[in-house]
Amino acid sequence: MGNSDILNNKLQLLGKLSASLVHEIRNPLFALKLNLDYLSQMRLHVSDDAAESIQSCSEATDRLMFLIQNFSDFSKKQNSETEICSINDITQIAVNIMQSNACIINMYFETELQPNLPSIYFQKDKLLQVFLNLLTNAVEAENTKNTIFVRTYMDDSDSNKTIYWEVEDSGIGIKEEDKTKIFEDFYTSKKQGTGLGLSVCKKILNEYNAELDFKSKYKQGSKFFIKFNTNNESL
Ligand SMILES: Nc1ncnc2c1ncn2[C@@H]1O[C@H](COP(=O)(O)OP(=O)(O)OP(=O)(O)O)[C@@H](O)[C@H]1O
Ligand SMILES: [Mg+2]
Repeated sequence: MGNSDILNNKLQLLGKLSASLVHEIRNPLFALKLNLDYLSQMRLHVSDDAAESIQSCSEATDRLMFLIQNFSDFSKKQNSETEICSINDITQIAVNIMQSNACIINMYFETELQPNLPSIYFQKDKLLQVFLNLLTNAVEAENTKNTIFVRTYMDDSDSNKTIYWEVEDSGIGIKEEDKTKIFEDFYTSKKQGTGLGLSVCKKILNEYNAELDFKSKYKQGSKFFIKFNTNNESL
């Protein structure tokens, strides 16, 4: 057995172990989250300090649940249903979810969604997850300016009828030398990152013939964009 075979076996084993670990973590974590939500509904009866503690525990569990979801999607094949989706509707849901947390830190989303775009075939929850991952990265990249733009549009003259989705931040940007690394599994420049967000997005989008790409200038900001093929019914 060569060195690379041994490494592959070890990686496979590690993959299996972590998948089962994640599975075991999920149930107690849900229980924790449910109880914290229950406690935070009783905030009128507790002191401000206690309410604040409950709130930060609840946010930490949200973060853990998000990481776990990413991890299990990364390691498992999807099985929910492909259905007709409106990119604009799902974008709006993602923005609403993000906005409720982002305004606490004075960050705002501005949407420019072209009306009457054709529908696409996709798994709604997966599409939402892709948008949430990209919006989260944009929020995490922001430093000074506080508006993040989210756009959808279509080039009418394009006979392939491609729909474009994009998120633009004016945050920290990406250094030239890091640009080839960001889609790698486990590459992260963040203290608490898993480095799986973009890998998961790419994996999900590839299954539906959609492409993810980006443009970025270090210290100026980044634009991540997706090209959706509207003729993907056959998938
Ligand atoms: N909008 C952005 N601006 C600047 N850098 C970005 C942006 N989006 C991604 N990156 C870079 O790409 C890296 C990988 O992103 P990815 O979403 O895969 O993982 P992460 O955000 O680090 O961790 P996680 O998604 O698990 O929280 C980030 O750590 C960051 O360095
Ligand atoms: Mg991320």
